[in-house]
Amino acid sequence: MSTTPTRHVLFLVASAREDGHPGNTEWLARQAAAALPPGTPQTWLHLARLDLPPFVDQRHTTGQYPMPEGDLRRLLDATLAATDLVFVAPVYWFSIPAHLKTYLDHWSAWLRVPGLGFKEAMGAKTLRLITTSGDRTKAQPMIDSVKLCGAFLAMPWGGELWGKGGAPGAVAADAAAVAAAAEFLRNPV
Ligand SMILES: Cc1cc2nc3c(=O)[nH]c(=O)nc-3n(C[C@H](O)[C@H](O)[C@H](O)COP(=O)(O)O)c2cc1C
Repeated sequence: MSTTPTRHVLFLVASAREDGHPGNTEWLARQAAAALPPGTPQTWLHLARLDLPPFVDQRHTTGQYPMPEGDLRRLLDATLAATDLVFVAPVYWFSIPAHLKTYLDHWSAWLRVPGLGFKEAMGAKTLRLITTSGDRTKAQPMIDSVKLCGAFLAMPWGGELWGKGGAPGAVAADAAAVAAAAEFLRNPV
């Protein structure tokens, strides 16, 4: 008999706001998290506060990577422990913020850590995106990009939640986004 694993939601916050100044995207994500079934385990990591080395492309030299150490290992372990990944990432230049891009680049290394089984593990996790920007149309390339990254690892797509951001607090005025947040994470995919 197969059993559904207990949900564990990992929120990866990618805004570059200063420490102690949560932005619109995190605010919207916290609204969504508040609607999770009570007691659902959740982990929040702010990528800008982790010491993440730049990715080095060794695919066609050594062809493999050692198990990461330090904050990178912490990030990998949090990723593997989650059933649901939520990227909490504003749109920066029509694209993915640098901190999140660094994390994604490390997926290419983790795919090549002998014995890790990263690809198989990722295929069992749902990927979602919570994002804010000045304009919904301009967010589309970034949304498409995140979706394609998940599809590359055969991750089920749980959808995107977009809100109109700007200065901190602005998204609270986007009534449609706030209403959608209350439903966004409620059900597993
Ligand atoms: C470096 C940078 C690039 C940005 N690029 C865009 C953009 O391409 N399109 C857009 O609509 N807004 C853009 N914005 C605005 C942010 O997406 C918006 O203020 C967002 O709500 C910030 O999220 P946060 O409050 O969670 O940090 C940019 C902001 C920054 C700091």
